[in-house]
Order: sequence, then structure tokens, then C-alpha cells
Amino acid sequence: MCGIVGYVGSREVVPLLMEGLSRLEYRGYDSAGLVVVKNGSLATVKAEGKLERLREKLRHEPLAGHYGLGHTRWATHGAPSERNAHPVVDSKGRVALIHNGIIENFLPLKKRLQAGGWTFSSDTDTEVVANLISSYLDGDLGDLGDLKTAVEKAKAELQGMYAFAAVATGAEGREGQEIVAARQGPPLLIGLAHGEQFLASDPAALLSHTKDVIFLENGDLARLTPAGVEIWDRAGKPVDRPVQHLNWDPIQTEKGGYKHFMLKEIHEQTQAVQDTFAGRVDFETGRVTIDTIALSEAEIRGLERIQLVACGTSWHAALVGKFLIEQLARMPVEVDYGSEYRYRDPIVSSRLLAVGVSQSGETADTLAAMEIARERGARLFTVSNVLGSQATRISEGVIYTHAGPEIGVASTKAFTTQLVALYLLALYLRQARHSDVTEAGALERRYLEDLAHLPLAIDQALALEPRMEELARRYFRAENFLYLGRGINYPIALEGALKLKEISYIHAEGYPAGEMKHGPIALIDKDMPVVALATGDEVYEKVKSNIQQVKARDGVVIGLTDHDPEDLADLAEDVILVPAVSPLLQPIVNVIPLQLLAYFIGVRRGADVDQPRNLAKSVTVE
Ligand code: M6R
Repeated sequence: MCGIVGYVGSREVVPLLMEGLSRLEYRGYDSAGLVVVKNGSLATVKAEGKLERLREKLRHEPLAGHYGLGHTRWATHGAPSERNAHPVVDSKGRVALIHNGIIENFLPLKKRLQAGGWTFSSDTDTEVVANLISSYLDGDLGDLGDLKTAVEKAKAELQGMYAFAAVATGAEGREGQEIVAARQGPPLLIGLAHGEQFLASDPAALLSHTKDVIFLENGDLARLTPAGVEIWDRAGKPVDRPVQHLNWDPIQTEKGGYKHFMLKEIHEQTQAVQDTFAGRVDFETGRVTIDTIALSEAEIRGLERIQLVACGTSWHAALVGKFLIEQLARMPVEVDYGSEYRYRDPIVSSRLLAVGVSQSGETADTLAAMEIARERGARLFTVSNVLGSQATRISEGVIYTHAGPEIGVASTKAFTTQLVALYLLALYLRQARHSDVTEAGALERRYLEDLAHLPLAIDQALALEPRMEELARRYFRAENFLYLGRGINYPIALEGALKLKEISYIHAEGYPAGEMKHGPIALIDKDMPVVALATGDEVYEKVKSNIQQVKARDGVVIGLTDHDPEDLADLAEDVILVPAVSPLLQPIVNVIPLQLLAYFIGVRRGADVDQPRNLAKSVTVE
């Protein structure tokens, strides 16, 4: 979704804002813009398209000053165009605003403002907020408090989910620089430094300047000046929010010699997976610890079932999580799309554990589902990658995936670390619920040993890179792909297909291998590559029969197996040999060649793999 940056201080602001935006561009890349306040007036430069276009424009229309705002947009209201780019300035030219989210009641507000003489030059809901704030200024900004008061009054009228920041004319030269920001939904954090403050929608934009941050809460309003930060809560009461120290390394947000973030992040999986289980497992006793879990062992024993809610790739992780939890903890698990959860009137009680799975922890659909589960009395837990994200704040317990920042829009290391986190959660629930069985610990130790072997197997899977590049060369012209998997690897078929469609724009479908004969088999012909996941012992022979069915209809099979490749030689055009690990962890290994295949096909087709069209890294609107 849109990216927000802001700075007040003594340094030249444009390079700082542009650096911040370059780290946030993955959040949206339809258009970008800056506003700088100098000598009491607002100067904006905006450009349609990627940040590079804005950079180019700034070469011809340079801006200078010591405070301002920057924005990178993912369009919700109004087409992606310069006209609709942010910052948006009110019709009297007094307030510049950047915004992430949706103002639901923008139409009645717009009508009222129009009747009062305010004019609109964009199709955005953001312009309504800029005009509304300006309407609450008394004309010439009598003092610096005015902007804060005007924002407070405007905010009281807004409905929807938003994070925004505003600057106004006339502030500098009187009492100094100020940015006023508000949060209701999408994340917003303040980076603290000496004599300067930063504002951003994502820590990545701040990390190279400060690691001390304050995450604003929903309903908060904040005022940033070089001297410090003041925050007021939803009720307008001044509040102190805790300062958190982030330990993400800013270097992690660089490409580090790779052509794309996606390839870099694929390669980071060995380390990320290890970081996710390190420190949480005791190989001697077989015991697992979880970061925070507000439930006692007795309460965990009292749980009846689990609901996992998530979107996109995280939903695929949740589907694997169902297998893990059901098998290891023997608890029934339901998996829902965040966006669908509310529409089935879910049955929830205090004996339900609802788990939101979200890399960003800010996906609006997942958060909405989590809120509903909580309102209906469920206990709430989350698997998230982002410290202090909204999902972690509303939950009673959390297990962080230690993937580090994921910049590529297509999720890779976030997915595999989610699978590790869900494996740990499953083992934790198992040990809490079945202490009688787990006391001996032999089996528990084996589950952890399986985990310990995983990084090496991931390395071996990554070594398939040249092979996957070769396959990409062979298949990149295909217009359709089918991915088949069974059991715990069926979600991996879905994930392989999602990766391919996201970054190469090839139509791809993931299907349970056994279901193919009930419909999709009609699609099979010589132009349809079928990627079949044939690993493990339990379903191997069954998947082989499914491959035979494809072969009999002239389908082109790419078989992925941990068995002797010769066994598939007569059935598959190409066989990819992956290392065998425990069946519960095999999905983590299997997905890696599929990520690589999608990556190289995307690159061959000339697609922008890090920032695919129409997508945004985290979708903070419903
Ligand atoms: O941040 P989240 O994990 O909640 O994001 C959920 C989806 O938007 C995300 O996984 C999306 O599907 C990715 N682009 C997949 O690569």
C-alpha cells in the first residue's frame, strides 16, 4: 500500500525523503511525490510512475528545505496519474497532505466542502482531508497549535482506515517546523533522533538514521518538531508511547549484489529459517518456547479448535499450518481467507484460538478477521514478521518470523519462515496439551532434529538455481501452467502457481493432484506445462498416477521429487531432484525451486519481478 515518509530537522530534506521513499517503493509504485516547506510556503513535485520518474523531475525542478513529506502511491481512489499523486494540497494552498488508506465518507464530506467553496482538482479521497483540515484553519495560521487543532477536528469527522501526515504554510519562521500525523489503521511510526525526527509507514525507511522508534496506536495524533514528539490518544489526551529499539540491519534492505530483491530474499532463506527456530528450541529436552503466549497450559488444554486467518501467500502458509497443527497437536484447524471470514458468520467461543498469519501484520483483511474473532470471544495469536505491527498489538500472543525485511513484493522468505513458525506453534501446542505423551521427549527431540537438518536441505535446494534457470528458458513462452500437489504439498502447488502469476503474469493454477481428473484435466494439452510435486512416501504413487493421466493427454510434465529421478524419467519431460527431509518440513524445501522457476520466468519475460504491476507489498485496505 502507499508509503509515507516525513522529516523535520536541520539536514537537507530532499535526499532524506528520496532515500526513505526508495525503501518504501515496494509499498506502491503508481506515482510518487514530495512537499518541502521553505520560508513558510509549500513546494511540491510529483510524477506518475516509479520513483525514478520523480527523481528525474527533481533534476529539472529542484526542491530544497529542511522539512517535508514524501509519498509513494498504490491507487485506491482515482487512477494512477500525476494529478492524483500525493502530496495533495488544499484548494487554498495552505495544507499539504500524504495519506495511506481509504476515507469511507469522503463523498458527503466532499459535497459539504464544495458547497462551502472548496474546490477539487484530483479524484482522490485524500484531497477531501486536505480541504477539511484547511477549513478548520483560521485563515493565516495564527500559531503552530492551529494545524494540530485543525487536524484533530478533521480527524473527528473521518470514517475509514487511514494514516496521514500534514504540513502547512506559514509554520516555519514563526515557531519552527512541524508535521502533524494521524493513524487509524495502517501503520505509522516515528523515528527519534537528536534535533530531528522521522515519520514513516515502515521501519525500512528509517533504519539507516535511527533504530529508536515509536509505533503510533490507532486513534493517535502526533506532532513532530525538531525538538521532539508529542502524541495525543483517541480521546485527545497527551500520552507517552513506548520507544522501541529495532534490531533490523539497514543493510538487509539493500540488494547486496543481487539483481533483484526477490532473488536475494530467496537466497536468504537458509539463514532466515535458522533464525526463526534458533533460541526457541531445546534440542536436549525437545521443548519449544514461544515469544509471548498469554494462555496457560491449562487454557491451551481447554482449547477446542483453531482458526487460521490470512491472505495470499500467508494463506498458503496457513493451509500447511493446518496439517502441522492437526498432525502434531491433534487439534482441529480451520483455515479462512481474511477477506471471507466475516461473511460466513464464524462460530467462535472462548475455547477457540484464532491465529492471524501475516508477514506485514498490517493486511487489512487479516486484521478485520482477527478483530471479529476477538470480538466474538476467541483468544488471539499472531505469526508476524514485523515488530510492533498491528496484528501483534491486537493479539495476546505472538511468534515472530525472523525473516528480516522482505522488500520483493512476491513473498519468499516470509513464507518459509511462517512455515517454521507454524511448526513451532504446533509443537508448542502439542507439548502443552499432551505433556503425558511428550514427557519422554524422544519424539519431540526428533521433531527438532528434523528442523536442525532443514538449513542444509534449503542450501541444497538453492543449488538448483542453474537448473531452474534452464527450465525457465525452456518454458517461459507458455501461457498457462498447472501445479499439482497432494496432502501437505497441495498448498505448495498453490504457492508455486501464485508466484508464477504474480511476477510473470502467466496464468497458473494450483490444484490438488487427485482433483485434476474432476475438471482441470480438460485443459491438458501439449502446450500446458504441469508441475507435479511427487515427494514423500505417502502419496508418491498416487501423484505418479496423476502424472500418468497428464502424460496420456500429451501434457508436458515437470516432476519434482525426492525419489530416484529415474522412476519418473518415462513420465516427465524434466525431473527436479530435491533433498528429502521430514514430510512435515518437505513443503519448505519443495517451494524453493518453484520460487526460482517463477523468478527466472519473470525475468525472461521482462517483467518487473520486485514490483509487479497492480500489486503492493502490504494491502492495508479491504
Ligand atoms: O503481509 P501479509 O502476509 O499479510 O500479506 C498477505 C498477502 O498480501 C501477500 O502474501 C501477497 O499474496 C504476496 N504478494 C504474495 O507473494
